[in-house]
Amino acid sequence: MEKVEDYVTHGSNMQRRDAQDVVEEFTYELSKMRGKCLDVGSGPGNITKEMLLPILPRDAEVVGADISQPMVNYARQKYSDKRLSYIVLDIEASELPSDQVEQYDNVVSFYCLHWCNDMWRAFENIYKVLRPNGKALMMFLGYHCGFNAYLRIKQDPRYQSYVQDAGRYVPYFQRRMCKDVRASLRKMLEDLGFEILHCSKREKSYQYSKQSLKNHVIAVNPFIKRIPDDMKGEFVDHLVSEIMSQNVLIPLKSKNSQEEYNIVLRYDLLIAYVQKPAV
Ligand SMILES: C[S@@+](CC[C@H](N)C(=O)[O-])C[C@H]1O[C@@H](n2cnc3c(N)ncnc32)[C@H](O)[C@@H]1O
Repeated sequence: MEKVEDYVTHGSNMQRRDAQDVVEEFTYELSKMRGKCLDVGSGPGNITKEMLLPILPRDAEVVGADISQPMVNYARQKYSDKRLSYIVLDIEASELPSDQVEQYDNVVSFYCLHWCNDMWRAFENIYKVLRPNGKALMMFLGYHCGFNAYLRIKQDPRYQSYVQDAGRYVPYFQRRMCKDVRASLRKMLEDLGFEILHCSKREKSYQYSKQSLKNHVIAVNPFIKRIPDDMKGEFVDHLVSEIMSQNVLIPLKSKNSQEEYNIVLRYDLLIAYVQKPAV
């Protein structure tokens, strides 16, 4: 997500659809989130301002937090509001800034936490930023078939040196090949001290045209910035072919007799709604 505009235009349709579903499902809970709310991984700020803010109580205040300075700059410029501010924050940091500890009545996080290498640390920090009785609604990827292509491409000598750390970008529970992901997530959150109000795994899919998949790959791929300019095009084509070779293709009627396909990508979403106990 190096280029914020690329992410907003080409990389975020699936995320927007799924955030909308969660906001609709948890409308009642969100509408009761009084006080100060932290949106972890707020990215460009569109979901924060357009979906979250309108549903929270009118006097609630939201702080959008993101590890990426360009995302925060973009959000400050494009999605500002008097009830909304943005900060740079790494939710996986080994030491949280002291001015963030126990500052929030609520936390929400959509499509961010699977980026964290150390999921325990991320949840621990969410626990720390909450005040006693504070609640957190979190939605993130447990599995996405597209990430398997990163691991296959790592075997290719042409790209190996650029994708050495491919495993680090595979979502935490996918990397560990957990048998019962929902139970593992629930246990992790309970071990940290949270009370579980809801914990589920949802099987989802999203359909792309070849071009929209290519645009999506360019927008969200962490490796492209490392690839030399003269190899970028073939790298993206190779990655898209790898993804297409392992997933469901839907043949389309084509005007010019060339075979064309849409592609269906399968993934699992994890949703947890938890509460930090009163002291
Ligand atoms: C896919 S975007 C999601 C943006 C928005 N929440 C949405 O639903 O569209 C994920 C965001 O998480 C941010 N992110 C990744 N790791 C993070 C971390 N350790 N701490 C805070 N933000 C992080 C990325 O910079 C990115 O902006």
